[in-house]
Amino acid sequence: MSVDLSTEVNGIKFENPFILGSGPPGTNAKVISKSFDLGWGGMVIKTISLDASKVVNTNPRYAKLRSHGNNEVIGFQNIELISDRPFETWLEEIKMLKEKYPEKVLIASVMEEYNKDAWHEIIERVQECKPDAFELNLSCPHGLPERKMGMAMGENPDLVEEVCGWVMDVAKIPVWAKMTPNVGDVTAPAEAALKGGVDGISMINTILSVTGVDRKTLRPIPTVQGYTVPGGYSGQAVRPIALRQVMEVARAFPDTPISGMGGIYTGYDAAQFMLLGSSTVQVCTGAMLQGYDCIIKMKEELIEFMEEKGFNSISDFVGHSLSYFSTHANLVERQREAKDKKAGRAGLDAETWKGDIAKETEDLTAN
Ligand SMILES: Cc1cc2nc3c(=O)[nH]c(=O)nc-3n(C[C@H](O)[C@H](O)[C@H](O)COP(=O)(O)O)c2cc1C
Repeated sequence: MSVDLSTEVNGIKFENPFILGSGPPGTNAKVISKSFDLGWGGMVIKTISLDASKVVNTNPRYAKLRSHGNNEVIGFQNIELISDRPFETWLEEIKMLKEKYPEKVLIASVMEEYNKDAWHEIIERVQECKPDAFELNLSCPHGLPERKMGMAMGENPDLVEEVCGWVMDVAKIPVWAKMTPNVGDVTAPAEAALKGGVDGISMINTILSVTGVDRKTLRPIPTVQGYTVPGGYSGQAVRPIALRQVMEVARAFPDTPISGMGGIYTGYDAAQFMLLGSSTVQVCTGAMLQGYDCIIKMKEELIEFMEEKGFNSISDFVGHSLSYFSTHANLVERQREAKDKKAGRAGLDAETWKGDIAKETEDLTAN
């Protein structure tokens, strides 16, 4: 059986569903070209804004959480800002990349202050360079919120709807809104973005975090001249949270394309995001830590998974596992029915049945 990794979202054809997420992998045209050559289906550029002179990074700006067992990096924190490269340079590079790679999908990640004219200007000027789509960064949790950008907008559904509306006034290509995970109910800002008119949702951006405190200096990391700020957490450790949030948005808005991300390192990690409703997936930390050529192995792993399960195309299994989420009361009912069936009994009274479960719990905790 031959499986087909190509997929179409909002009329855009991806040769495979793997996109390099916004961040260091999309820093400039040189690394983006290299990644296209390696086989990534799409690239989201590092987020850009009109005035890069306001963007000043720190060194260091990364902190790693390592496992106690084998010292492997399981979580990654950054306090990196959006791109500090001039807007005009980016315009030239987007144009050049699309001329060089017409078949590859190039997505422009943009961010601006709370100002309608600024959003109109950035969308109109970038659009002239012919990227395939926009991703609105309404979700960076550190640094930018001090300027009322990023998560400062994305956590407020009223602002999300208004800003997405401004963008949709002038956008002529598909627009995805990138959501923050740092809210109680992620469906609220997603709903606001859809009301504002966007075509799809990207999620998740990083989770606000403090990775740790250095044992020698007692300073929290990453430490810049002795001080720090909470940063954005990514990598394997965030995958369960990302999967949960993707599932919630997919269940709430079943017809909305989702580009899912958060801790994807393997083809099967990606497949899980698809099973829970993502039609494309993005990889940022996984590519930084494994090398951008991890795309080769990830594609092989996804093909292997699809062959094993008999799926011919991506659309065969996007959202397949969503129907297995239920309520706690329903799980209890199903468990009870299964036990009764196994014991060949018509249905025990509630007290005896609860006693059964209590006995099982005792047995489990005894070990
Ligand atoms: C160092 C670093 C820089 C990032 N910069 C951006 C950015 O400029 N714009 C953006 O939308 N997301 C940015 N992200 C977030 C990622 O695109 C992604 O949403 C997040 O890291 C979760 O995915 P991952 O676990 O695959 O990294 C950055 C992530 C990292 C680690």
